Amino acid sequence: MSDPHAKAAHSKTELLALKNAEALLGGGQDRIDAQHKKGKLTARERIDLLMDEGSFEEIGKFVMHRSKDFGLDKEYYLGDGVVTGYGTVNGRLVYVFSQDFTVFGGSLSETHAEKIVKIMDLAMKNGAPVIGLNDSGGARIQEGVVSLGGYADIFYKNTLASGVVPQLSAIMGPCAGGAVYSPAITDFILMVENTSYMFVTGPNVVKTVTHESVTSEELGGASTHSAKSGVTHFSCANEVVCINHLKQLLSYMPQNCEETAPAQPYEASDDESRAVLDSIVPDNANQPYDIREVIDGIIDAGSFLEVHQNFAENIVVGFARLAGRSIGIVGNQPAVLAGVLDINASTKAARFVRFCDSFNIPLLVLEDVPGFLPGTDQEWRGIITNGAKLLYAFCEATVPRITVITRKAYGGAYDVMNSKHIGADMNYAWPTAEIAVMGAKGAAEIIFKREIAAAADPEAKLQEKVDEYQEKFATPYRAAHRGFVDEVILPSQTRQKLIRAFKMLENKVDQLPRKKHGNIPL
Ligand code: HXC
Repeated sequence: MSDPHAKAAHSKTELLALKNAEALLGGGQDRIDAQHKKGKLTARERIDLLMDEGSFEEIGKFVMHRSKDFGLDKEYYLGDGVVTGYGTVNGRLVYVFSQDFTVFGGSLSETHAEKIVKIMDLAMKNGAPVIGLNDSGGARIQEGVVSLGGYADIFYKNTLASGVVPQLSAIMGPCAGGAVYSPAITDFILMVENTSYMFVTGPNVVKTVTHESVTSEELGGASTHSAKSGVTHFSCANEVVCINHLKQLLSYMPQNCEETAPAQPYEASDDESRAVLDSIVPDNANQPYDIREVIDGIIDAGSFLEVHQNFAENIVVGFARLAGRSIGIVGNQPAVLAGVLDINASTKAARFVRFCDSFNIPLLVLEDVPGFLPGTDQEWRGIITNGAKLLYAFCEATVPRITVITRKAYGGAYDVMNSKHIGADMNYAWPTAEIAVMGAKGAAEIIFKREIAAAADPEAKLQEKVDEYQEKFATPYRAAHRGFVDEVILPSQTRQKLIRAFKMLENKVDQLPRKKHGNIPL
């Protein structure tokens, strides 16, 4: 195709200026206006919001597609629907691709894919995170299989980059069909409410195949994926919030798997004892409390960034800082389903543990768990395999790992929740801890069944046996006698103890046996 600017330009410098101006316009002002009307920013506006001012360097601004079919020989846009490059976020290098919906609906062509792969290669070689800002109608329909090939090239790179550099995906528009699998392989997905959706097949296909009537938002909007499927880790009210979340997330992470996350300035003179923690766990062991209060009581003020806030709320996971250092927190949530472990809670926490372990972020586990959730629903859907994921994830983690048992640590869940036996470095218990095979009543009913049945007053006998079991096991001391708990501490001392213990573990070196890779139960 002849260059439309070549004749208009009076000099080589002017030609470059004209081309640059054209590239900045993407699919043209009308389409930019249409994008704004939908309440969406353009690809370049998003990059401007994300990157430190003036730090973005574009790569491949003049790339054009190579297709000739279905009129594409006459329709070209410089950059081909994706803006790619590098820059800094809070002074740290990141690579970014931002799909431009104004160019063929941000659809992915062969060259569009090549641009993304190029920055992913650079990110891996130079050890810095990749951020994808997704807004695309999927495969460039006019290109056929070369577009599908481009997607596969990206999936392959996403997989190779997994565990090497952090990969974050913001979904800021459509993301449908096989395109969803690139974000799915990355470490974190953020979606914008009401303007983004993700699904493998859209509402029309759903209607044809299953006869269900569903809107795009119901099928694959941010609220669906944050609460029902757990596909997205964050649901953001708008694009600005989404980009701020991206920046905040990055702040807890190292640049790559060889580094540790940067420490934030921290004043050690801060009073490390936190009296507020002494009154959170209720006297009655059946009464709920919010584990987030415990988290807030322990960490540096205001430093908690909760991940997957609306999904599997019976477990809380997220990043925080302790004495300025990044940690990952996994806490059973007694305020929801008594903090029981079920399929969703197990997979949610397992993935988070694996992320932290991949990127050298120490783990703090707050344990108050009555066990695994019983029932046909859970068994038939595979609580065995799924619960095993969390167990496996903890067993395999070599980062510094500390557990604090705040109250219940019952049954298999005691083992799973970062017990000493599966490699935790330090285990603390509060005086309120109860560490046993099961709750006292259930235990007494089983082991004293005959004695209770034969008693003149079975009720009184049961109570006597419950009290006996309770006294023996509903404490942290049996475990402490064995060394399964390193120290029983007052809640108010917890922050101080953890700061010291994580400092002590700062240079921990631990290695798994040599292998190609393990076979986590999937
Ligand atoms: C080429 C596309 C396109 C595509 C949109 N456009 N999707 N061009 N390939 N996949 C173009 C439109 O022709 C239009 O061009 C412009 O982008 C904006 O599209 P609109 O339809 O006007 O926008 P909107 O009403 O907002 O609807 C957006 C949309 C819709 C919902 C994404 O465009 C749509 O349904 N597109 C097709 C989606 C799809 O089926 N993709 C293939 C999925 S399969 P003009 O010139 O008018 O501006 C897939 C497989 C991946 O992706 C497999 C990986 C393994």
